[in-house]
Amino acid sequence: MTSRAPLIDTHGRTVRDLRLSITDRCNLRCVYCMPAEGMPWLAKDDLLSYEELTRLARVALECGVHGIRLTGGEPTVRAELPTLVRMLHALAPGLDLSLTTNGLKLVELAPALREAGLVRVNVSLDSLDRARFHQLARRDRLADVLAGLAASKAAGFAPIKVNAVLMRGFNDDEVLPLARWARDEGFELRFIEWMPLDFQRQWDRAKLVSADEILATLASEFALEPAADDDPSAPARTFHYRDGSGRVGVIASVTRPFCGQCDRIRLTADGQLRTCLFSVREYDFRRVMRAGGDDDAIEALLRAAVLRKEPGHLIGQAAFVQPERGMSAIGG
Ligand code: 5AD
Ligand code: SF4
Repeated sequence: MTSRAPLIDTHGRTVRDLRLSITDRCNLRCVYCMPAEGMPWLAKDDLLSYEELTRLARVALECGVHGIRLTGGEPTVRAELPTLVRMLHALAPGLDLSLTTNGLKLVELAPALREAGLVRVNVSLDSLDRARFHQLARRDRLADVLAGLAASKAAGFAPIKVNAVLMRGFNDDEVLPLARWARDEGFELRFIEWMPLDFQRQWDRAKLVSADEILATLASEFALEPAADDDPSAPARTFHYRDGSGRVGVIASVTRPFCGQCDRIRLTADGQLRTCLFSVREYDFRRVMRAGGDDDAIEALLRAAVLRKEPGHLIGQAAFVQPERGMSAIGG
């Protein structure tokens, strides 16, 4: 593999992690993310092809990126996902290649994804109550998520992480039920603070359940100890259960931003690079590639984008502007 200089920003952070959103579509309609109807989906031609995605990933790897996460929308609704995984895995067989998914299609896909070289899966699950899940995701599919998790375990993925977003008044009473269940099942649960990234712009600070509050609830039942081996650039703060039954974590994106350690860049499904979830600027890689740009042109745009990586988000401050596009377009 060609070797290129690392991607370092003006705040001294080195980019190591690339998130690829491969579709903006989804087979759920979680209330904190999308409206029930009327989402403006991208056209098929707007999406980067698997060849384009792999090419961009290769140049990023040449620049020292060592982790790639596939996101959406819901990445598993894109046809032939194992083919993309196989193409990315072939770039660097030791690549830390992971997938964030709502789990619905894992029953079908887990073995093929594993075989193609996927290393890790993160499954989103916000409620263990069937009626509540239905209300939150606007689809009655809890059983499919649970079956998808079981299929991932059977396929040999380990650890399996489960992401939960809590909203006050909806599912904030599920901290302990989710934690007990995940412990029993051997999943690593992580609670993510709700961020202002929903299409409907209904984010409401009063409905956010803070990481401190979640940790206090967890501590009311479990003896926890901070994990000593937390990766400083990873967003989660993780804790061990003292009895040795695994780990649990919180991602305090809003109340304790970790922007100072952020090593991530993300590409939208239509090939626009964002250096922050809350960027208001995008860099058009699709245009560079479709205009016949060579690998050096891709590298040059990567470098220019990273040089302008924001110091951090401004949620809660007067200058904060919610980005035009929501989470499902940007990729988690
Ligand atoms: N705030 C926090 N997390 C979100 N997710 C989706 N939208 C939001 C939001 N506005 C979560 C999903 C998934 C991951 C990609 O991000 O539940 O776990
Ligand atoms: Fe789909 Fe994920 Fe958004 Fe839910 S949060 S609607 S699963 S993209």
